Amino acid sequence: MTKRHLITTALPYANGPLHIGHLAGVYIPADIYCRYLRAKGEEVLFIGGSDEHGVPITITARRENTTPQAVVDRYHEMIKKSFEELGITFDIYSRTTNAVHHETASDFFTKLYQTGKLIEKTSEQYYDEEAGEFLADRYITGTCPQCGNENAYGDQCEACGTSLNATDLINPKSVLSGNVPVLKATNHWYLPLDQYENWLKEWILEGHKEDWKINVYGQCKSWIEQGLQPRAVTRDLNWGVKVPLAEAEGKVLYVWFDAPIGYISATKEWCAQNGQHYEKWWKDEETRLLHFIGKDNIVFHCIIFPVMLKAEGTFILPENVPANEFLNLENRKISTSKNYAVWLHEYLEDFKDKQDVLRYTLTTIAPETKDADFTWTDFQAKNNNELLAIFGNFVNRTVVLIHKYYEGIIPEMGELTEDEKNIIAKIAEFPNHIGASIEKFRFREALAEFMNLARLGNKYLTDTEPWKVVKTDPERVKTILHLSIQICACLSVLGEPFLPFTSEKLQKILNINVHDWNQGGNIDLLKAGQKINPPEYLFEKIEDVAIEMQINKLKL
Ligand code: 2FM
Ligand code: ZN
Repeated sequence: MTKRHLITTALPYANGPLHIGHLAGVYIPADIYCRYLRAKGEEVLFIGGSDEHGVPITITARRENTTPQAVVDRYHEMIKKSFEELGITFDIYSRTTNAVHHETASDFFTKLYQTGKLIEKTSEQYYDEEAGEFLADRYITGTCPQCGNENAYGDQCEACGTSLNATDLINPKSVLSGNVPVLKATNHWYLPLDQYENWLKEWILEGHKEDWKINVYGQCKSWIEQGLQPRAVTRDLNWGVKVPLAEAEGKVLYVWFDAPIGYISATKEWCAQNGQHYEKWWKDEETRLLHFIGKDNIVFHCIIFPVMLKAEGTFILPENVPANEFLNLENRKISTSKNYAVWLHEYLEDFKDKQDVLRYTLTTIAPETKDADFTWTDFQAKNNNELLAIFGNFVNRTVVLIHKYYEGIIPEMGELTEDEKNIIAKIAEFPNHIGASIEKFRFREALAEFMNLARLGNKYLTDTEPWKVVKTDPERVKTILHLSIQICACLSVLGEPFLPFTSEKLQKILNINVHDWNQGGNIDLLKAGQKINPPEYLFEKIEDVAIEMQINKLKL
């Protein structure tokens, strides 16, 4: 890779805390990817931020008798803190209520408007006469015409996933007053997606057939082949980015119009703080733009936002959109409204210093090609039987023995057996193997390959039995422990994208500071005669009682 990399992650709504579904689908894979690129010496800008507009936030504010600003202030801080604690290495974690974002989104709309890229239409929309307000999206509920769910929203039915127009709902009801709404004429601006159908066919269906994930490509194909309609990019609402036109009093940009522009605003903000020009990241073909998202965001990132960028005309387009499927919890759908989730802030409280156990478990089950399931017993097993029994055990035995036999001084490597020469040749291949999987967005596979290196070390130690050989051939033990501690050093380098806290701890034990991915297969990272620090456990056993407590929390 030679280009610079602009990596964005879906901006979570600042309307509730983060849960494991968000992490497994979007933020952990993106963080692994960015950490890997940095370790390869690549130039990376990793963007995150809170999505602070949209109807649900205003509904929360009404319910809690507070303001939308107070709601987003609270959740933005909470989300930002949880990301930091989990070790997600955003270069910037911004928010869409920032002035720079309002200005950027507003200018973007103006440019499309002035260059004739939007169409203006009058339509009949639901209006609550008692409240004196138009009812955008989630302010209206009713029966889904597709599946009969009686609690479908004006923009989507969550039971069957169909995207709806409010006027499609049977028995519509206003969320504000509970009354039956009336239809009233209102003016809005639309992005004519239909005019970009041919371009989308060429760009996605022909241009990205090979390199986009099947789930992403498939969804795009089905959207495009169904035929695209003009899509309203403004709403009658008083929370959001104001539509910058005199005749648009009381209207704001649709949240899905302003949110992806948030990636641009966050870049501007970071550039202002770091003496760079944002154009370098957004207007130069030498930048690779990648969006990490969940599957419910595919249409917005693969069709609508690219059409906006294309219509604007001066921005680059995403090179790839590695979207994941969904994560279930104990065989049931995660539900924010039913409080059925593992919340990140609670996990971080309940499992102090065990960020890597969550990162590990969620990566091993990442919903890369289909929906996946998180269970607490699997989480426990992954910690006890994999991280602790394989990785932790290998490192611990090696460090303990070096202290026991050599007072913590790394011994010389003597003559190597044929087996050892083969092992060394294998170790040298790990950076490329793991890297190749990461570059294909196969993070499960990459982590499994990393664990194979730990397995290799663990098996080498078990097979060579230095604790027995020491009695008969102490010189030989020097070689075994020299090679073993070198494998520990490789693990600390190659484990960093997946298990950053553990890698740091391990490098402290080893007294090294190596962050160059290409050195991860080098068995000369430590020199004979160097001193290492006393052993410390990398992982602790997780007991049944801790797991039972979590399972009980989920009982509804
Ligand atoms: O689905 C969501 O949670 C949205 N808030 C994602 C927005 S992504 C981007 F466009 F900002
Ligand atoms: Zn439905």
